[in-house]
Amino acid sequence: MAKLTDTDRGTRGDVDSFAGGYFRNAVYRHWDPDALDLAGDREELLAHEGEFSGDEFDMLRLGVARFGGGEEAVTEDLMPLAMALEGTDEQMFLTTQLYEEAKHTRFFDRYWEEVLTPVAEELDLEVTDPTDERYLNDDYVALFDAVEDAMAALLDDQSPETLARAYSHYHVVAESVLAQTAYYSLQSAFSPTGDNAVTTRPREELPHLEGLVAGIAKIRSDEGRHVGFGMHEVQRLIREEGVDESVPQEVLTELMPHVAGIFTDIEGPVNHAAIVEYAREKLTRRLDIITDADGDIPPVEELVAIEGADDGRAA
Ligand SMILES: [Fe+2]
Ligand SMILES: [Fe+2]
Repeated sequence: MAKLTDTDRGTRGDVDSFAGGYFRNAVYRHWDPDALDLAGDREELLAHEGEFSGDEFDMLRLGVARFGGGEEAVTEDLMPLAMALEGTDEQMFLTTQLYEEAKHTRFFDRYWEEVLTPVAEELDLEVTDPTDERYLNDDYVALFDAVEDAMAALLDDQSPETLARAYSHYHVVAESVLAQTAYYSLQSAFSPTGDNAVTTRPREELPHLEGLVAGIAKIRSDEGRHVGFGMHEVQRLIREEGVDESVPQEVLTELMPHVAGIFTDIEGPVNHAAIVEYAREKLTRRLDIITDADGDIPPVEELVAIEGADDGRAA
């Protein structure tokens, strides 16, 4: 770990290093979850009363509750990694990730307060809290418990294998496979550019939730950076620190049934079989890159390039 008394370091950080470049990219792409306009989503949901209410509205609430809960969980679980990282650039990058997870949590809270609750009131539906037990399921709880345990293990043991296990749980399964699949399903259903193969009825009949889609685009862009960092670290631990490639393989195999289980009680407007298939493909591609000696992770600019999030500035 760098110390003030190490006087031959040159500058303190190195923007040309891997983590230094990721830090710069995160700062450049700063956005404010409170600046996104959500009024249109309220109107759109109210305009679809009758066509999109009752069970489907409940499924939207379930999706937003679960993904907000996931962002809250990863915000809380990340800190032990800060103790395990040695380089100044890596620590600087991690502060951006922690800040971004907190912003993601804020976005979903705001969506609940400013869109879902007022719409439920207006439509005379039961008003619920996003933390209500009804939004959990056993696989969801099991997955986030496993992530928390894998991260907390770093407090006692910072060996390469424990680090690889932590990254595999957090960055590869929770942030890449689970979150990207979840965001893909919401975007498929509620964006005009959504995927009809994933929705249970023509997408044109569903409300266009521009605010939700814009927030998700920003979040996915941040997640692209987080996942790139985690994948790079798992690869490095395998190539340079002697971690066996069976470590990430075992974690991914163990957690995949929980990822699938999180989507099985979501029925309409998305088809969960198509979503689980997307998750499986994502997982296989991740494993291929991590374990392929020549598998390169794309540059950070490519990882964060998500349609709708490309201006790189506050929304
Ligand atoms: Fe996040
Ligand atoms: Fe993240």
